[in-house]
Amino acid sequence: MIIAIDGPAGSGKGTVAKILANKLGYLYIDTGSMYRSLTYLVLRDNIDTNSEIDIYNAFKNNDIEITPDSKNLLNGEDISSKIRTEEININVAKVAGYPTVRELMREKQRDFASKYNIVMEGRDITTEVFPDADYKFYLDASIDERVRRRVKQNEEKGLESNYEEIYESIKNRDTSDMTREYGALKRTTEQIYIDSSNMTIDEVVEYMMEVIK
Ligand code: CDP
Repeated sequence: MIIAIDGPAGSGKGTVAKILANKLGYLYIDTGSMYRSLTYLVLRDNIDTNSEIDIYNAFKNNDIEITPDSKNLLNGEDISSKIRTEEININVAKVAGYPTVRELMREKQRDFASKYNIVMEGRDITTEVFPDADYKFYLDASIDERVRRRVKQNEEKGLESNYEEIYESIKNRDTSDMTREYGALKRTTEQIYIDSSNMTIDEVVEYMMEVIK
């Protein structure tokens, strides 16, 4: 069983996918965190973000993993708390835009489905990774609402956060994610579209559960 969810930054995919996976007893996979882990490696090792081949080789020669309890490991080291920085936000869409890198990432993502029932969320899960998923959702929300959610998330983590800065950062990432040549976030007629701007998390989960039943 494969449940695929795509959507832009801050649309609530992560929270919703995690709850859904819990309710169904499926494995939850945040594919954005895999691209974030790779970007962490690229920045840590001063790899040129303009060099697709260098990034591809770094990916091949290092072990990027997600554990069943959603920890991000780089060569066995837990880097989960290091992959949510603004520096990574700024660079991740570029790193994720290279076709050879994406193909390798997709292979890893498809591997999960051979072993588990999964709820997987990202940008190209409904379109490229699992076009034949059992259920395909596109979770959206207005940019203002998505910025508000991100500000709130940061505050909960005790991080300082500035509305205008987050607005700019999300808007730029939306543009890169939606307009890049490979692995762009797309809406299709096969996805079930949900605009969560005026919905609570529980309402979104409930709606998805109804669809799945
Ligand atoms: O958590 P947030 O919504 O900010 O983003 P994320 O899901 O952690 O994804 C971070 C970035 O990874 C996105 O902006 C995309 O550029 C990239 N990504 C991707 O290219 N393909 C995916 N399947 C998931 C994420």
